[in-house]
Amino acid sequence: MAKMKLKVGVIGVGAIADERHLPYWHELEAEGRVELIGVCDIRKDRAEEMAAKYGARSVYFDYQKMLRDGQYDIIDVCTQNRFHAPITVAALKAGAHVLVEKPMAMNAAECRAMIKAATSAKRRLMVAQHMRFEAPNEKLKEVIQSGRLGQVYSANATYLRRRGIPGWGKFHLRRESLGGPLIDIGVHVMDLAVWLMGCPKPIAASGKVYRKFGDRDDLCNGDWGEPYPPSEFDVEDYASAYVRFEKDITMTVEVSWAANIAEERSGITILGDKAGISTDPLGLYGYDGRSLTSTRFDWLPNQEGHRMEIRHFTECVEGKLPVRVQPAESLRIQQIIDAIYESSRRNREVPIKAV
Ligand SMILES: NC(=O)c1ccc[n+]([C@@H]2O[C@H](COP(=O)([O-])OP(=O)(O)OC[C@H]3O[C@@H](n4cnc5c(N)ncnc54)[C@H](O)[C@@H]3O)[C@@H](O)[C@H]2O)c1
Repeated sequence: MAKMKLKVGVIGVGAIADERHLPYWHELEAEGRVELIGVCDIRKDRAEEMAAKYGARSVYFDYQKMLRDGQYDIIDVCTQNRFHAPITVAALKAGAHVLVEKPMAMNAAECRAMIKAATSAKRRLMVAQHMRFEAPNEKLKEVIQSGRLGQVYSANATYLRRRGIPGWGKFHLRRESLGGPLIDIGVHVMDLAVWLMGCPKPIAASGKVYRKFGDRDDLCNGDWGEPYPPSEFDVEDYASAYVRFEKDITMTVEVSWAANIAEERSGITILGDKAGISTDPLGLYGYDGRSLTSTRFDWLPNQEGHRMEIRHFTECVEGKLPVRVQPAESLRIQQIIDAIYESSRRNREVPIKAV
């Protein structure tokens, strides 16, 4: 008997869908595991172009019509942040399992509604935190789980661009995206650091966000171009924060789309009382009682995170695995983000009531 192929639909076929989602669904289709049934975008030309490029059977300009017309096993949501929650909830109610791009949503209340919809529909929901699927980060997770760090007590999550304000889409608009680098690229490194530490529950956050470049007429955005009318830019372009977790665990965060630094740098450091790990240079750094020890992990496959994440989610829907990025973990990251923005507005630490 022929194996059932999972029916896939992708909603929002902009940059990330074209670069990192549709190619991997196409690859799985070539392997006979899925069928790309529909793509949808409110930009008609774009939807048609992507449907033709990846051989989707149907093309839609309205996601509700798409969900009414087809029986999807998987809906992959790649719109800007504002539509993550409404489309995810609608797709879950229509009976699909949902993979949704990061960040999970615009606030913790939306995340809760998404989790509730997934629970009621008995469907899988996963946020596309692709860094958890990259080989170096999987290696670090394995090392931490082996206990070689001893007691983990603090992390640093950094993602700093000297100049790199996204020059496409709606990233610069608060109503469409909620915020700037904190929710855009900060969500990647915060999720990774918290996951590596074993997902402790956050209890409070303190932070400050700044807008120093994005709304300037003389913005020099490097290779990223001159994207939007500067007066429209109403999110931050730099943020720093301090997050407290249960069990005296802490995390420092620093992110930017634009800052006066020498060059872009990003990475994670996790400190334990026996050893620490770092992504740059990738390795384990400790002490053997007499001297300092450094173990570098140089030999790892070049494994594209989105590719592995899409394959993983397919296997979850096939019933083979639990999702690696649990929705409650993504909700807690959103709670941290919400608390940092609130802390910045109120100039004080904000408590977090974690799930
Ligand atoms: N994981 C990563 O590394 C990564 C990288 C870039 C972007 N992203 C995330 O992916 C999302 C999209 O980013 P992008 O760079 O592709 O942006 P984009 O603007 O290029 O694409 C978004 C697309 O969604 C479409 N859209 C908007 N509202 C819609 C609706 N109601 N129904 C159907 N289509 C709709 C837009 O027309 C656009 O084509 C964002 O949430 C972003 O945070 C993730």
